[in-house]
This record gives sequence, structure tokens and C-alpha cells, in this order.
Amino acid sequence: MTFHLLVLPGDGIGPEVIAQARRVLDWFATRRGLAIEIEDGLIGGASHDRHGSFLTEQTKARAQAADAVLIGAEGGPKWARIRAGSGPESRSGLIRLRRELDVYANLRPIRCFDALAGDSPLKAEVIRGVDFTIVRELTGGVYFGEPRGIEELPDGTRRAVDTQVYTTPEIERIARVAFELARGRAGRLHSVEKANVMKTGVLWRQEVERLHRAEYSDVALENVLADNCAMQLIRNPRQFDVIVTDNLFGDLLSDGAAMIAGSLGMLPSASLGAPLGAPGAEDRRKAIYEPVHGSAPDIAGRGLANPLGAILSVAMMLRHSLNREAEAALLEGAVEAALGNGLRTADIAPAGAPPGAPTVGTQTMGDGVLAALEAATQ
Ligand code: IPM
Ligand code: MG
Repeated sequence: MTFHLLVLPGDGIGPEVIAQARRVLDWFATRRGLAIEIEDGLIGGASHDRHGSFLTEQTKARAQAADAVLIGAEGGPKWARIRAGSGPESRSGLIRLRRELDVYANLRPIRCFDALAGDSPLKAEVIRGVDFTIVRELTGGVYFGEPRGIEELPDGTRRAVDTQVYTTPEIERIARVAFELARGRAGRLHSVEKANVMKTGVLWRQEVERLHRAEYSDVALENVLADNCAMQLIRNPRQFDVIVTDNLFGDLLSDGAAMIAGSLGMLPSASLGAPLGAPGAEDRRKAIYEPVHGSAPDIAGRGLANPLGAILSVAMMLRHSLNREAEAALLEGAVEAALGNGLRTADIAPAGAPPGAPTVGTQTMGDGVLAALEAATQ
């Protein structure tokens, strides 16, 4: 069965890192018999420049029809004014696509590769061996709650509103993904909210606890307030196995946790929907794979970006959409080997290295991963 992948490189460094991810996909197609068909499309500013929309109906339909979508990054200063406008068309294409495909479970693995442990701004003895996953609710909460908007008041001042809202089914389905994931790992789950301040936090905690009692009492569950979680991630990140949290807290905590991996450029993600129950592939899900880093306009077009977030997103695709665990591990091993061979893009330059110390560009890092794949499969 051929796997249909829609690739949306997007803006900024998106096209550069996706080019390396595609080389890796090509390698798996030619060397490991991966039956994959790739289509290209536009999202974000690239789409707006061409079609006047961050996400066209046609791209939406193609994403719906694909087995998975691989996205680079979206946005940049050029489109900031349009994005600040009102109305649905001002909304990010990425955010609309997540909602459109209902990929509610965003998996963000945080892993400290041994080769990078000494190069993070955080102490090596604190981060060495860290390996946990943040499960971020992706299609609800304050990103989508209504009412939202900015209104003019009679006295000439303005008022802005966002709404944080969660329902029982939304909490239950994301908690279920997290419990299942924890069950297959070390069996520990931290559920993160602010039940001390927010009603959504109260409901979140109650629903997670109810599901825990009913179906997952074998998993060790701990409730943590979001501010405390931010502190614990820096103080002792090894305590974590799986973290489940809402859309906004997941956004914040994953950027913070990125420094455990050395750089935001290292983080991949998978956004998964509910099983489609298709005949012969019952566990097949809608899926979007994307590096966490964003479009990084300051370094775009210069061949400097770290492609490992995008490449590791391909590994997640092999694992979660293609059911190829061995290949996923092979690719992660190749990334580890490339880092072990000393390859560093500027964002993961060795600690204490003088400014301008030799680092490699996007393409050379891609070369390094491909060489490591070759070496591992000789
Ligand atoms: C992320 C990003 C997005 C988000 C932005 C680009 C809209 O920060 O994927 O973490 O806030 O979800
Ligand atoms: Mg973010």
C-alpha cells in the first residue's frame, strides 16, 4: 500500500529543513523499500502570496485526502499585519489545518542526546539521559475558544477577549492518549493545569483522575500546577516520563523544555487524530508532522537552520503513521551518530565555543545523517 504524503514547506527556514527531511524520505524509499508518494503544497505566507489565503480550500482537501502531512514552518514579519486582522482568514493556516484534521494529540518528545548533554545552557548532570514526551492538547482551549476578538468601547478604549474552554470529551480523549503512551513507557504521567485558579483546570483534573481510577490505575498519576511544572522541568527533568497538558501550557512548556534537548531546532512533533478504523488499517490516524521551531526569519535563506527537528519528525512519521518502529529507531540512531561525529549547526554549537567557531550548515547536517544511515546499514 502506497503511503500518500502531502509536504507543505511553508515559510522562513521551513523549505530548507524540509529539503533535508525529503532527502531522508528518499533514502528510505530507495534503500528500505518504503512505498511513499509525495505531493507538494503551500501553507502560510507562501500560500498567501500566491492565493491570498494562508490555507486554501484545495490544500485543505488535499490534506484530508493524504495519509499524513509534513509541515516546515509558517509565518514571518511580512504577514504579521494580515495576521493581526480580524476574521477567520487572518488565522494561521497551521492552526486551521490542525483543527480541520482534528489532530488533537500533539506529541513532543524531549530527549537529551548524549552528544549534546555538555553543550546545553543547562548543566549536563541535570539533563543527561532525559527522555520524556509532552502530550499537548492541540485543537481546543484558548486557541479556539469563543468569544474571541478585540472590540471598541464607548469611551474609545478597546477590550480584547480570548476564551479558555474545555469539555469532558476533549479532556478524556487527550488523557487517554497520554495514559496509553505512559503505559508503553515507564508508566508515569504528570497532568498539568492550574486547578488552583482556572475552572478549566478543575475540570481537567477531575476528568483525568476519573479516567485514571476507571481504566489506568496501573499508571502512576501526579497532578502538577503549570507554574510548578515549568520550574520542575529545569530543576529535575529526569522525573518526567509523560506530561499531558492543554494547548497553551503545552506550547509554553515545550519551548522551555527544548533547552534540555539543546535547542528548539532539535524538537520534532507529531499531531495525531482519532483512529480512523479503516479496514485493514484500523489504527491509522490523521497526522501532521512538523518540527517545533517555527520559521526563524532571522536566519532564513542562509542555509544555517538545524534540520534535525524536521528529520526527527520523519522518524515520528515512520513510528506513528507507517508502523515502522525499527526504521524510526534507525533514523534516530543516525541523528545521534551525526551529533556524535561532532556535527553542529549554530544553534547547538558547543558550550564555550568562541563566536564564529566552525559549525555546519543545513545541508551538511543532512549529509551527516544520510552518511550515518548508510554506515548503520552496511
Ligand atoms: C507551536 C507554535 C504555534 C503554536 C504557532 C506557530 C502558532 O508555537 O507549534 O508550538 O502556538 O501552536
Ligand atoms: Mg510554540
